[in-house]
Order: sequence, then structure tokens, then C-alpha cells
Amino acid sequence: MKKILVTGGAGFIGSNFVKYMLKKHPDYKIINVDALTYAGNLENLKDISDNKNYTFIKADIRDRKKMDEIFFTYEIDTVVNFAAESHVDRSIEEPEVFLTTNVIGTQVLLDTAKKHWKINPDDKYCRKYKEGVKFLQISTDEVYGELGKTGLFVETMPLLPNSPYSASKASADLIVRAYNETYGLPMNITRCSNNYGPYQFPEKLIPLMINNCLKDRDLPVYGDGMQIRDWLHVYDHCQAVDVVLHKGADGEVYNIGGNNEKTNLEIVKLIINTLGKSESLIKFVKDRPGHDRRYAIDNSKITTQLGWAPEYTFEEGIKETIQWYLDNTEWIENVVSGDYMKYYDKMYSNISNEEVAATKE
Ligand code: NAD
Ligand code: TYD
Repeated sequence: MKKILVTGGAGFIGSNFVKYMLKKHPDYKIINVDALTYAGNLENLKDISDNKNYTFIKADIRDRKKMDEIFFTYEIDTVVNFAAESHVDRSIEEPEVFLTTNVIGTQVLLDTAKKHWKINPDDKYCRKYKEGVKFLQISTDEVYGELGKTGLFVETMPLLPNSPYSASKASADLIVRAYNETYGLPMNITRCSNNYGPYQFPEKLIPLMINNCLKDRDLPVYGDGMQIRDWLHVYDHCQAVDVVLHKGADGEVYNIGGNNEKTNLEIVKLIINTLGKSESLIKFVKDRPGHDRRYAIDNSKITTQLGWAPEYTFEEGIKETIQWYLDNTEWIENVVSGDYMKYYDKMYSNISNEEVAATKE
């Protein structure tokens, strides 16, 4: 039986993962540690909150003392680190918290894992760890930077992040790697492409467009809308993380992606058409500074070496996701009733057709 510390388990992917794991491995204990920032929402977990193998603790991964207590009390043997500041636009506005949470928070978890998992805790140089322990860092394809019109991200590429968000995630990857090289701490890193699915906070492209469409609000498309992302359903991401947890070779990095490249404009038009709205809602707005033009994943390492493959086609996944938002209007209303509108007004106050700015070629 594993005792897994899932950090950031009240966020979009983390909450889907917690539920996935409790169902798939009913004998595992899941300890969900989340600081409940604006992005953390316990409503995402209400259907499993009384599961006897599930514990929620409100805590910050930067809090060393608290992390130490948690590792000790729950005898943690596995960490899946989802906790992060995750939105590029926010990182452009306020980079600092991206560094403290995404980099320092990760390092605090690594130190705590090292301390509790070493066979000989008194030996500073001990590289032997208890059987079966693992630190799994959830990273992103954005650490590779941007692609031109062709080519795919492979795990051996240099990290060339362009936003404060992706730079903080790349830094976290490097410190996780260093703990493996220097101290022998067992780890894997996964780098996934853009996720979509239920419970995604409506600051990200797909839920923001669905929410705005439902309210007949303008749909803010950055630049020319021809940027490309490689979309993956969150369920497929959870399956991939589970596979890496159990089968990933020590120290290895695995890309996760669905071979599913779409332009932002294609996505927005698909949402408009599915909801029976008019394309006149589209508003081309000023581009995001440093906006990466294209991401696309080569997933052949995880598919050939670990046997994972995505199950969802984008057509079924997006249809199901839009239906989920239609069926869960109360969830959206609760999410957008707090500080969300303040954020929205700040970021999108200048929506206008005149604002179209030069985009990166
Ligand atoms: P999210 O923003 O929805 O959730 C992040 C969670 O982390 C929230 O519940 C928040 O409360 C928690 N958190 C933030 N700071 C914390 C701290 N200091 N201590 C404890 N908890 C804290 O993010 P998400 O979209 O679910 O992404 C999860 C992870 O997956 C992130 O590491 C992100 O970089 C990575 N990722 C996301 C995507 C994507 O498309 N969403 C793609 C690839 C990788
Ligand atoms: P996002 O969901 O923020 O993910 P990321 O930047 O991490 O890939 O954005 C996905 C794409 O959609 C990205 O190219 C930016 C674009 N976008 C818009 O055009 N308008 C929006 O309002 C948002 C939030 C994103």
C-alpha cells in the first residue's frame, strides 16, 4: 500500500488525479496538501471527501516545519508534486510567487523527502533510500520554449523557457534533477502539454471561452489566434502520471502529449459552434508578451517504454468537457463569484478590435 502525498490536489489536474487514484488503487492512502490559493477549490473533491483513504491538509509546500510533520505523521513514501502557480498571464503580472512556490516549494519538498526516505538519516552522504520511494515532479512542455512550424519537443532538448511561469517550472525541473544526481533521490519528471477537462479554472483558454460564451460575453483571442497548443484530456494525463509512478525508470523524464495540435482560433470556433453562438463574439486583443507560438509533444518515449497511450479523441473529450460545464453551472458561478471578476476586469479591461498587436512570427 502506497502513502502518497499529492500536493496541489485541490486544483484542476490535482483534484482529477486524487479521484482517479482513489478509484484505481482503493488500497492506497492519499494525503492531499494544498494551500487553497485562488485556484484551489475543495468543491472539486466533495464526492470523495469522506473516503477513509483520503486526507486533506491545508498547508503551503513552502512551510518546512509543516511538510516535515506531514511526512512523519503519514509515513509518506511517494510525492506527486502538482502544487504550483500555473497561469502564464498571472506570471507576467506578478512573477515572484511563481518563484517561491514553484521553485522553493519544490526544494522544500525534496529536502523533506530526502530526510525521511534516507536509509541512514544521520549520514549526510547516504545515497541509499527506503524501498519503493519516489518523488514525481509534474512539469510542463512549456519548459522547452517554443517550436517553429515543424518539429516536436523531445525529452533531451535544452530547456529554453520564455515566461516567468515556464522559467519557474524549468528551474524546479533542474533542482529535482540535481537532487537525483547529487543525493541519489529517486525521482521522475513528467512534462505534459495543455490539459483540458472538468474542474479547470476559467482563467485558462477553454473554460474561459466556454464561460464567456454561456454569458454572451466577448471572447478575447490574443494576437492572431494562430498559436498552437497540443491538447490532452486531463483523464489521460492522470493515467500517464499513474503509469510513470509505477513504471518510470529512476531519474527519467517523460513527455506526455496527445498528438493533438490545434490553433487557439480552431478551439474558440469549436466552442462557439457547439454552444450555438455567433462568431461575432470573437475579439482579437493585444497579444501576450513573449507569447510562445507553438507547442507540440513527441510522446514516443512514454508510449514505447511504458506502454501508455491517450484514450480520448479530442472530439469526444471537448464535447464531454463542454457538457460538463453546462451541467455544472453552479460550480462555475461559485468559482467566478469571488475575486475572479476583479482579475478578469484587470486583465481584459481593454478588449477591443483596435488592440490587435504584432504577433511573433
Ligand atoms: P491549478 O492552478 O489548477 O492548481 C494548482 C493548485 O496548487 C491549487 O489547488 C493551489 O491552491 C495549489 N497551490 C498553489 N500554491 C501552493 C503552495 N504554495 N502550497 C500548496 N499548494 C499550492 O493548476 P493545474 O492546471 O491543476 O496544474 C497542476 C500542475 O500541472 C502544475 O504544476 C502545472 O505546472 C502542471 N501542468 C499544468 C498543465 C495545464 O494545462 N493545466 C499542463 C502541464 C503541466
Ligand atoms: P492558456 O490556457 O493560458 O495556457 P498556456 O498559455 O499555458 O498554453 O492559453 C492557451 C492559449 O490560448 C495560449 O496561446 C494563450 C491563448 N489565450 C487566448 O488567446 N485568450 C485568452 O483569454 C487566454 C486565457 C488564452
